[in-house]
Amino acid sequence: MGFKEFYEANKERFLQELKEFLSIPSISTDPAHKKDINAAVDWLKNKLETLGFETKTLLPTKPSLGKNANPVLYAEYTVDKNKPTIMIYGHYDVQPPEPLDEWKTPPFAPDIRDGKIYARGANDNKGQLYANIIAAEYYIKEVKEKQYNIKFFIEGEEEIGGPTTNEIIEDSQFKDILAVDTLWIADGPWIAHNKPSVVYALRGIAYFDLYLENLPQDIHSGIYGNVVLNPANLAGYVIFKLKDILRNRIRIPKIYKSVRKPSKEEIKLVEAASPTYDEIKQEVNAGVVTPYRRKGTTFPPLVLTGLKPSLDVHGIYSGFTKPGQLKTIIPANAWVKFSIRLVPHLTVEKTEELVRSYLQQIIPKGVTWKLTRLFSGDPFYMDPARPELKKLLEVVKEAFGKDPVLVPEGGSIGLVTTFARKYNPAILMPNYGLPDDGLHSPNEKFNLSQLEGGAKTLVLYLTKK
Ligand code: BES
Ligand code: MN
Repeated sequence: MGFKEFYEANKERFLQELKEFLSIPSISTDPAHKKDINAAVDWLKNKLETLGFETKTLLPTKPSLGKNANPVLYAEYTVDKNKPTIMIYGHYDVQPPEPLDEWKTPPFAPDIRDGKIYARGANDNKGQLYANIIAAEYYIKEVKEKQYNIKFFIEGEEEIGGPTTNEIIEDSQFKDILAVDTLWIADGPWIAHNKPSVVYALRGIAYFDLYLENLPQDIHSGIYGNVVLNPANLAGYVIFKLKDILRNRIRIPKIYKSVRKPSKEEIKLVEAASPTYDEIKQEVNAGVVTPYRRKGTTFPPLVLTGLKPSLDVHGIYSGFTKPGQLKTIIPANAWVKFSIRLVPHLTVEKTEELVRSYLQQIIPKGVTWKLTRLFSGDPFYMDPARPELKKLLEVVKEAFGKDPVLVPEGGSIGLVTTFARKYNPAILMPNYGLPDDGLHSPNEKFNLSQLEGGAKTLVLYLTKK
C-alpha cells in the first residue's frame, strides 16, 4: 500500500492517538507534573512496543537531578545490524500552558478545528514526533525491502535545558546504542508558510539569573531617595547597559569578536530565505519591530535570528508590584533573568566570562550581586553544502510539493551539539511546523496537513535509494 492510501485508511486512529498523547500534561518545568512525565513515557513505550520496537528507559549512572531526572525513552527496530541506523529525536515534555484564560479550548483537551489540532505541545514537539511515529509504522508494516534500522530517542527535559539528556549522551554505558549514522530531528517551524525549511544551524543559549542587593531591607524613598542607590533602578541601568535595543547591538565588549564570519554565499542564502520585518510584525501582532541597519544596509530578520547572537530579558522582579496600589520604598534588592543566544564560535564559557567581567565593571562597588547560570548549551553549525542534505532537500520537496530552503534557526535544541561532538552522525533537521503554530504561546497548534507531510518526509527518506 502506498503511503497516501495507508494514511487515509488510518487517519481517524492517528488523530485519536495524537489526541491521547496531547492530553497528558507532561510539563517539565514543574516537579508537580512528575506523574504526567511518567504517563507520557508509558504512552510512548506502549505505542512503540505495539509497532514492534524494543524499548528501554535511559537514565545516566549519576543523574545530577537525582530523583527529579526525566528519563529518555529509547526504542530500536533492527532490520540488519550491517545496515545504517537512523535515530529519530523527539521530546515528550512541554512548556507550561499559562496564561490559561487565553486558550480558546483547554491546553490539554486537544481540539481539531479547521484542519488544525490545538493543544500545548501540538507543534512542540508531540505533533512533529507523532508524524515520525506514523512514518515508522508505515515503514514497519508496509515497506518490504528495508534499508535502515530505526531508533527513537525521546527526551523529557528539552524545555528546561535539563542536564539529564546530556549526561546520557556523555555516559559511556550507552555508547553502543547511541553511535548511529544519522540523527533525524523535527522540532521547529518553517520560516514561512510556503517555505519548507531544513535547518543547518541552531543557536546555543546561556541563561542567567542576576541578583542585585544594596540593603538588608526596604527603606523609605522620601528619606533616602537620591542618597541610597536603588536596586530596582540599578536593574534598569544594567539592562540598558547590556543591549542597545534600537540598534540591536549587545553592548558587552568583545561579544561580536568571537562570532563566526559567514561566507558571502551563506549570507545570500540566508537573505533569500528570510521573511520580511512586516511579515514577522503581522505573525505575532507586534507594535514595533527593530530592523538592523549597518553602513546604510538593512539586514533581513533571519540574519539577526540565525547568524547573530541576541540578548533578551525574560523577567524582572523587584520592590512593590501590586497592581493599582502604591508603596514608597527603595527596594532592598532586584532580580533580572536574561539570556544570550549564541552562534559559533561564541561558547557558553566564553560568554559567561565576558558577561561576568562586564558586570564587574558596570555595577557600582559595594552592591552585592550574584550571577547564576541557570542553563546553557553551545551553538550547532554544519556546512550547508554538506552532501547528506541533498537527499533530505529532495524528499522535503516531494513530500510538501514546495521548494525548501536551508536555514539557520534562532531557537536552541540543547542535545544536538553534545550529540554531534560525541558521535558525529549526519544531522538532518527537517522542520514540520508552521510559523504561526504558537510555540510556547496560548493556542499552540499543528496543521494536520503538516502531520501528513512530515510523516511522508520520513517515509520518503527511508524508502528512497
Ligand atoms: N523546539 C524548540 C526549539 C526551536 C525553536 C527550534 C524555534 C527552532 C526554532 C525547543 O522546544 C525550545 O523551545 N527550546 C528552548 C530551549 C531552552 C529552554 C534551553 C529554546 O530554544 O528556548
Ligand atoms: Mn521543541
